Amino acid sequence: AQAEIGLIGLGVMGANLALNIAEKGHRVAVFNRTPDKTRHFFETAGDLAERIVPCETIEAFVAAIRPPRPVIIMIKAGDPVDQQMAALMPHLSAGDIMIDAGNANFRDTRARFQRLEGSGLTFIGMGVSGGEEGARHGPSIMVGGTPESYARVEKVLTSIAARFDDEPCCAWLGSDGAGHFVKTIHNGIEYADMQMIAEIYGILRDGLGKSATEIGDIFVDWNKGRLNSYLIEITGTVLAAADPLTGKPMVDVILDKAGQKGTGKWSVIEAQEMGVPATAIEAAVAARSLSALKAERERAEALFGVETAAFPTAFGPELLKDLELALFAAKIGAYAQGFAVMAEASREYGWSLPMPVIAKIWRAGCIIRSQFLDEITTAFTAAPDSANLILTPAFSAMVRETLPSLRRIVSAAAASGLPVPALASALAWFEAYKRARGTANLIQAQRDFFGAHGFERVDGIDRPHGPWGSGAAQQ
Ligand code: 6PG
Repeated sequence: AQAEIGLIGLGVMGANLALNIAEKGHRVAVFNRTPDKTRHFFETAGDLAERIVPCETIEAFVAAIRPPRPVIIMIKAGDPVDQQMAALMPHLSAGDIMIDAGNANFRDTRARFQRLEGSGLTFIGMGVSGGEEGARHGPSIMVGGTPESYARVEKVLTSIAARFDDEPCCAWLGSDGAGHFVKTIHNGIEYADMQMIAEIYGILRDGLGKSATEIGDIFVDWNKGRLNSYLIEITGTVLAAADPLTGKPMVDVILDKAGQKGTGKWSVIEAQEMGVPATAIEAAVAARSLSALKAERERAEALFGVETAAFPTAFGPELLKDLELALFAAKIGAYAQGFAVMAEASREYGWSLPMPVIAKIWRAGCIIRSQFLDEITTAFTAAPDSANLILTPAFSAMVRETLPSLRRIVSAAAASGLPVPALASALAWFEAYKRARGTANLIQAQRDFFGAHGFERVDGIDRPHGPWGSGAAQQ
């Protein structure tokens, strides 16, 4: 029998995805640029090998798949994808589908999709989240492409995806780059979640003198409550781990310089491009960039010293509750911002992104999976037209409840000289967003003064310039 699907690229993610596909009962043809890797993969696949068709040439690979052929490409994002597509295309026939499962920039995905229009071939941009474990046992899958091409792969994809309440965490989200866009925003939110957790860790470590193990216990505890999520869970786990070399807590011997591969930055660029404020995500990306300036930070500390004022609140159950709720409030802010970016992109690119479905397929499998996403699913299902998550009845109530904690924690951190950029940015967003009369009236007056840019009046009277007098721009 021919393979149901093909997969190119047997790196860890590709290999795990192929094993997952085989395990769910589908025959899968596999190909890797270096045939050795293909052979090794096949030989180590155990029982699953009976459903794996190892191919050493692209011709054999294509011939092994049942038409119309879906081919998953799981290789390094960027140029390698274009090269792989170019090598594959001459062997494909009308109806075949190339599926890019990497962390592609959705603009590249759109371009690839459009390039194939009219060629008979189609393209799917597929966001896959969940890291190596997810790929092997159930990722969250975000699909962009034509509904027809999705129909050809739906059975395989939904069978390999993670499940929540027995529903697969896989969905078709819209045309061309929709899937990769949603994956990008997933990663932006992932950055914010991680940064905000790290800031709370910083308060506990530097403001309250807690050890890694003590902080780990706190996260383990929080994971039993409303913060329950994969990222909180692994935070508890990594804080408990000891370095085999020194016996010290592992996190204490890890250099404080964070890497980033681009998806966080892309979400901020796209948010800015469309004029959507995504302050918590922006702060998280900037914090990683700042973390990379290790040598400069060392020089600055030598110059300024560490100005530590005692943390204004004593450690105890009350402060712990405040920290937990502050993190929860800030998390709401980050998700509200991420969903707002997707809502705007949906309008901009004509995707009709289904917000409740996105929240649904993020409930399991992906890195940001959590109980919280089930609450978002419910809130968006009840109020699908809400302009922002925090305007839904469920989330406005949660904001009312938790915002005071965020205020207290951010001000306490500021008073003791501790950096909490993402928490503070989320707070600033809340405060500005829920204020009907802001301060941009002054910005408008200034713009009109120096550039005669004009303004709108609150009373609607049509007199769009000020009486600025000497030095002001000519109207
Ligand atoms: C996932 C992850 C995964 C990876 C990102 C971010 O959803 O499985 O998001 O795709 O973590 O590429 O990586 P960086 O932190 O290196 O930018």
